[in-house]
Amino acid sequence: MPDNVGIAVVGAGFVGGQAHVPAFKKIPGSDLVVICDKIETRVKPLSEKYGVKYCLDYEEVLKDPRVEAVVLAVPTPFHFDLAMKAIEKGKHVLCEMPLAPTIEQIRKMKKAAEKSKVLLLPDLNYRFAPIYIKTKEMIQESVIGTPIAVHYREFIPAAALAEQWPAGSWAWDIKRSGGYPDFTLSVWAIDMLRWLFADEIVDVEWMSNYTPLKQFGGILGYNTMGLIKFEKGVAGSLHYGATVNQLASTSRLEVYGDNTNVLHAVWNNKIVLFGSDPEPKEIPVEAKGTRMWGHYQIDNHFVECIQQNRKPLVTVEDAIRTQEIAQKMVKNLK
Ligand SMILES: NC(=O)c1ccc[n+]([C@@H]2O[C@H](COP(=O)([O-])OP(=O)(O)OC[C@H]3O[C@@H](n4cnc5c(N)ncnc54)[C@H](O)[C@@H]3O)[C@@H](O)[C@H]2O)c1
Repeated sequence: MPDNVGIAVVGAGFVGGQAHVPAFKKIPGSDLVVICDKIETRVKPLSEKYGVKYCLDYEEVLKDPRVEAVVLAVPTPFHFDLAMKAIEKGKHVLCEMPLAPTIEQIRKMKKAAEKSKVLLLPDLNYRFAPIYIKTKEMIQESVIGTPIAVHYREFIPAAALAEQWPAGSWAWDIKRSGGYPDFTLSVWAIDMLRWLFADEIVDVEWMSNYTPLKQFGGILGYNTMGLIKFEKGVAGSLHYGATVNQLASTSRLEVYGDNTNVLHAVWNNKIVLFGSDPEPKEIPVEAKGTRMWGHYQIDNHFVECIQQNRKPLVTVEDAIRTQEIAQKMVKNLK
């Protein structure tokens, strides 16, 4: 058996604290050496809960010889600098998405990783989520014939967005983050659709509006819609929203086939097939904890690729293609 991979999770906020730390704690081939965050009140409780050492200075992480790989769960504006430093030190990097605010920076990160012979893995976790893996299996089994159209909706409650990224926080700084939260939160589904159809989006037209929500500290509630066309012909629409309450929040993928059957993937645990039976058929999908949206699986994949020197299933090129589509929604805002 290869040695366990020494991991540092950097950034103990929303995704670092709730997804990566619990996941790496459980992954058999990983040894979570340290959790790093600038804010002690964030990182200390996490360190106590999971029994992992913490530090406040990223330089300490880089100096630690037990750390072979870093997981960058810091705000997007810091990805480039922190990734480049880790790569220079010969450490593998699992970097949250968007990888960096500009494609130019992403290409530099890619080049540096190739030169240092380390793995730079973009955290595109949706394609590892059980709900979408099952949907893809059903498409490959020709349950809907050939897919011809797709709708995807992702509505985050305005209250949850305001709590995660309050007005004035990094996520609203377009220049440093690459775009507003609609841009940031769009990338996982765009990548998932490219993977689902094994095809590229060749055309996209975005329409957005932004409504200041006074009751949520003035964050911009967004409704951002994209019309997309895939190379092999699938036509689709995307709708990202943050102007709804908890009850109306949803994640829903609908795929239409040329045999007139339709698949709905609802949240992360239910597929509904509108097929030849008189009633729609519900197919439950088992998904728990950090596995629900594929975080555990991609973290585990990161460890396995390092241990076995394997090529990853998702690459920096996937991140670039995805961000090229997402960034088109931002071009009129700057
Ligand atoms: N994969 C997913 O499901 C998912 C979901 C949400 C966000 N994200 C991405 O994850 C990243 C982080 O988002 P978040 O919502 O967790 O952010 P957040 O603001 O909740 O947390 C970021 C943490 O990083 C810390 N930090 C900042 N600079 C640091 C430094 N130099 N050294 C150590 N710690 C530092 C902050 O103190 C904060 O605690 C973003 O790029 C975002 O787009 C991914």
